[in-house]
Amino acid sequence: MAFNNSVILNKPVNPVISFSAKSQAMTDDAYETWRKYIYDNTGIYFQDNKKYLLESRLQKRINFLKLKSFEEYFNLIKFKGNLNDELKYLYEVITINETFFFRNQPQFDALISKILPEVIKTKSSIDKKIRIWSAASSSGEEAYTIALMFNDLIKPKFPGIELEVVGTDINHAVIKTARRGIYKDYSIRNTSPYFLKKYFAKTAAGYEIDPKIKSMVKFKELNLNNSIAMRSMNNFDVIFCANVLIYFDKQSKMRTVQHLYNSLKPNGYLFIGYAETLHGISKAFKIVSFPKTIGYKKG
Ligand SMILES: C[S@@+](CC[C@H](N)C(=O)[O-])C[C@H]1O[C@@H](n2cnc3c(N)ncnc32)[C@H](O)[C@@H]1O
Repeated sequence: MAFNNSVILNKPVNPVISFSAKSQAMTDDAYETWRKYIYDNTGIYFQDNKKYLLESRLQKRINFLKLKSFEEYFNLIKFKGNLNDELKYLYEVITINETFFFRNQPQFDALISKILPEVIKTKSSIDKKIRIWSAASSSGEEAYTIALMFNDLIKPKFPGIELEVVGTDINHAVIKTARRGIYKDYSIRNTSPYFLKKYFAKTAAGYEIDPKIKSMVKFKELNLNNSIAMRSMNNFDVIFCANVLIYFDKQSKMRTVQHLYNSLKPNGYLFIGYAETLHGISKAFKIVSFPKTIGYKKG
């Protein structure tokens, strides 16, 4: 640990010296300490060339809290982070939450035209519910896309079948947005006029998702790097875990993918991001090709 212990006690060595965190650059030692802490807690690995990014993101929070240094903020997180919710704000500033409705259309097409009809064949009069997990859901666009496509394209053909979508993310702010279900133009830019008209109400605050679709999706905070929380996620027919593994190193990718495997029912499917691969990460899945995309099937 490279930081001065006096800061742990919140007492500067010399109280007369005051300095603004704005003028401080993050030292290499401080960067090492921060990225190890973030990695150990979230699986997110900041590469050597991402120091400036982490520095500027932490700086925002440091300024907001009127703290004096990266060291002071680190000690606040390390010793009180769980007590005062500050850890949640740390996760808020270090995560990238880019997402939008219908982001990876070929995956949703594969889900609707191939996978769900296959899953429905295995359903019975006592088990009529399909369970889908949008892991690292960000503000919910992926989870709601699945729900509205199901409602539009599957439900009329199989009225007895129910769908439950669970959306989870480490960032409490995006989960709040997801639960609210109101979106700006950016989020709906890939949404067809048909779906927009049928499933969204234009309000002064933005495009509000239809209450029926909203009721099909539940959101909660969950850290993919938390093994205990991950073990509580079971019996999913399909999991979407897209555009998050890209922020992890190989070890945390392997650990997360193993948990996702365990969370799937036999023959369940995993979808990851367009630019991501399980090559070198897991051999447990069978690769299944669909038009313009692939899925990973639990054997
Ligand atoms: C780029 S968004 C992807 C959203 C959506 N899956 C998509 O593909 O459009 C990545 C999300 O992963 C979340 N995330 C990062 N690390 C995480 C972790 N350890 N556990 C859970 N979510 C995490 C971030 O908060 C962010 O919302």
